[in-house]
Formats: sequence, C-alpha cells, structure tokens
Amino acid sequence: MSVAPRTHFLLFLISLSSRMGLSRYIEDIEAADGLYSLLSLDQKRDSEDFIFRRPLRCLDMLATDGSYTFVASQPQLACAAFIIAEPSEVISLELSDVNIDCSAGDFIKMFDGWVLKGEKFPSKQDHELPLHQRYTDYCSSPATGATSRSSQNVAMIFFRFHSTDSGFTLAIKKLHNPFPCNIMSQSPEGSFTMVLPHQRKNCSFSIIYPVEIRLTDLSLEHAKSNELSPQRQLWSGCSGSGDYVELLGGNGVDTSMMFPVADLCFSLSGLAQMKIGCDNSVVRLVSSGNYINRVSFQYRLLEQSELPKTQENALDNFCSVE
Ligand SMILES: *[C@@H]1O[C@H](CO)[C@@H](O)[C@H](O)[C@H]1NC(C)=O
Repeated sequence: MSVAPRTHFLLFLISLSSRMGLSRYIEDIEAADGLYSLLSLDQKRDSEDFIFRRPLRCLDMLATDGSYTFVASQPQLACAAFIIAEPSEVISLELSDVNIDCSAGDFIKMFDGWVLKGEKFPSKQDHELPLHQRYTDYCSSPATGATSRSSQNVAMIFFRFHSTDSGFTLAIKKLHNPFPCNIMSQSPEGSFTMVLPHQRKNCSFSIIYPVEIRLTDLSLEHAKSNELSPQRQLWSGCSGSGDYVELLGGNGVDTSMMFPVADLCFSLSGLAQMKIGCDNSVVRLVSSGNYINRVSFQYRLLEQSELPKTQENALDNFCSVE
C-alpha cells in the first residue's frame, strides 16, 4: 500500500475504533512518535535471514510478513493490531517469547477476522466457523493458543498487560488461498473476480472507502441441478432466486448490518454501475450451491465532489449518491 491509502485506511480504523476506547492510546502514539511513523515503513531487513522485524505498537496495522515484538513500557489495557494480506492470501499468526501473567488478567487473543466498533468482518452469517471458534485465547491454552490461521485476508490480535516489561513476539506469515471468499480490499481502486463453484455460501468483498463500483461480468450458471429452471430464476426477484449479487453500503464492517444499494440476480455484461458514498462498500455474492457463480467488478475512489452533500443522511437514501 502506498502512504496515502494507508493513511486513509488507518484513519478509518481509528475513527471506528475510537468508540472502543482505543482513542487514548492513539493519543499516546501521536505524542510519542507522530501518526506518520505508524504508516512509514520503518522496517529493517535482517541481513542474515531476511526476516522483517520491527517493534509492535499498542495500536498497529501490519501488512508485511515478519516478526513483531511488543514490550510494555507501562500497563497497556487495550491494544489491538489489525493484520491485512492480499485478497488471495490467508494469514498465519504465531506467538513466541510470551511473557505475561494470565492470572493477573493479562491476555493475548487472536481473532479470525476484524472487530471494529463491536462489528465483525466477516459477519457471523458469512463465516464458516461459529463465532467462539474464531477466537484463539493464549491464556486458556498456551500450547494450542499460540498459533492461529485466518480464513480470509484479515486477522487481528488483542492484548492487555498490567505490568511493565510484559510482552511477546508475533510472527506473521501470509499463505496462498486458492479460493478466497471474504475479502477486505487494501486499496480504494482495483478489480476482482469472485467465483463460487457449487458452494452453498456467501462471500463479501469489502472496500472501506466511498467508491464507484462497476460490475463488468455476472454469471449465475445453471450447471449442477436440473430442478431449478434458470429462466424462472432470472425474473423471479433476487431474494426468491437463492443466487444473486448485492451491493451494500454502510459505515461499519458487519455486512449483515449494511444497507442494500442494489440487488442483481440476472446475468449481465457491463451493465451495472453504482456510486456508494459510505465508509464501507461491499459486493456480496449469495450462492445456493446449485450454480457456478461468478462476478467481476472494478472500483475506484469517489472524488470529493461526488460524495453525498449532507453528512446526516436519512436512512432511506443512506449512502446513495445519485
Ligand atoms: C446466504 O445469505 C442468505 C441471505 O442473506 C441467507 O438466507 C443464507 O442462509 C446464507 N447462506 C449461508 C450458507 O449462510
């Protein structure tokens, strides 16, 4: 990520996390190093094994394979690091050199996804695992609780330490994911193709910027089941058809709490184009498993002049721009 999108990204995270009580730590960071030091690549290559190493901060965002060490210089009661990889990657996390006192209330927890403002990405509805299995708690089981692997390109770690010099090292490794389903985009512009071959699940591609999304290809192919007529599916309305694409807009990360901007349940080529003036824009593919579903789209950041004029939108026209 270049510095400008990273800045936006981090500011977005900060605006969302401020209500979680993380804001005072942001002030600490600003006082200590300035916000920009978080964003700059203050990375030092280890000359021997080329492992990227740097200190971990109480509020941090990590996008690079490497080894990150946190040492508390004071009690730290609410720390979190957001980890993001490329769309076709998942993230492996491994703790080492853990020096904490679980009996005093210290903890380190990893999460399969992101939690912001109490909202989760991927949403409970779109993640294969039940919520409790998405948390890995070091204190409840130091043997198995030291490693975690995400199901998508985002993961998170939370930690709390009561005494000085507590700490740990976090190793991040990004692994190839041949079937990416839920995805958080790092960038405000790009393109993506989501394919769901005969899988009964839902996948969301989330872009946490106000963007224009252009669907370039959508096919909901009839290929496995003969029970459903594709012709009837085309015109029976999206929610009845089982398979469709929805565009969502909202100001949090939980797709189940976002506002539907458009539903598309027919095959098309280069037809749909939509501006979504929210903090978060999502393309969500709902699949019954009866078809090979594929959606391709492009997206770009909205200009300042394209954003909705009033900040306090009525719920009806929540994030729609035109
Ligand atoms: C996919 O989403 C639809 C609509 O939101 C829901 O009815 C369905 O149960 C979901 N499917 C799965 C497998 O979660």
